[in-house]
Amino acid sequence: MAQLNHIKILAAPLQGITDVHFRQQHYRQYGGVDEYYTPFARLEKGRLRDKDRRDLLPERNRGVPTVAQVIAKDREEFARLCDLLQHLGWGRIDLNMGCPFPMQYNSGRGSGLLPHPDRVAEIVEEMRSRREVTFSVKMRLGLAEKSESLRLLPLLNEAPLQLVTLHARVGVQQYKGTVDLEGFETFYEGCAKPMAYNGDLQRVEEIAQTVKRFPRLVAVMLGRGLIERPQLGREWKDWVKP
Ligand SMILES: Cc1cc2nc3c(=O)[nH]c(=O)nc-3n(C[C@H](O)[C@H](O)[C@H](O)COP(=O)(O)O)c2cc1C
Repeated sequence: MAQLNHIKILAAPLQGITDVHFRQQHYRQYGGVDEYYTPFARLEKGRLRDKDRRDLLPERNRGVPTVAQVIAKDREEFARLCDLLQHLGWGRIDLNMGCPFPMQYNSGRGSGLLPHPDRVAEIVEEMRSRREVTFSVKMRLGLAEKSESLRLLPLLNEAPLQLVTLHARVGVQQYKGTVDLEGFETFYEGCAKPMAYNGDLQRVEEIAQTVKRFPRLVAVMLGRGLIERPQLGREWKDWVKP
């Protein structure tokens, strides 16, 4: 299986679960994960929530490869969050464009950004202005329609993004129903950026099927599968070992 050993294993952000204690403990006890994503950090009265700030303190994250995730509704919020994170020392930031909770999407955050290419374009401009940071986005197929992600493709293809992670559901679906692999495929075919697949991967065989179907993937992101089976990343690494 050596031909699959370039695939990176990313640990998905799970609000309330994958905090810094989880990340430190999992990395040491199980390994098999190349990068951990923090649950999204958000602004409260113009500052980082205390809980988010504690989770992002550099001294607590030391030794574990970690990407800091933020959720923002527009360029201004995004810029403020980048300032705060850069001040803490973060040089790798992921934008959440997938959160399916009505409180977030009704305020235009998370998957609520997907129907608004104008606002996404302004956020991309902000990314361009911050050359010292490496950016990625984690998104869904749309808030309500998968055409929303397709409409964003020209914009994302020109954006300074190291990675696009796509969870193959729409926001209003939350976590119900099955993942839409055809929807994923259509986006993947038009996406010029390195991509990660996310959604419902529970076992090594399912990871293998996914990366065989989508051979340009550079990573898969594991969420609930890694909680139920903390050794899943390690099992994958052992399975693909040359
Ligand atoms: C309890 C819970 C909290 C989540 N928190 C976040 C979050 O903070 N940021 C984010 O991008 N996704 C969040 N997600 C979505 C997951 O990262 C992931 O995209 C989703 O669970 C699908 O992947 P899975 O089927 O491998 O779990 C959350 C999901 C759950 C169930």
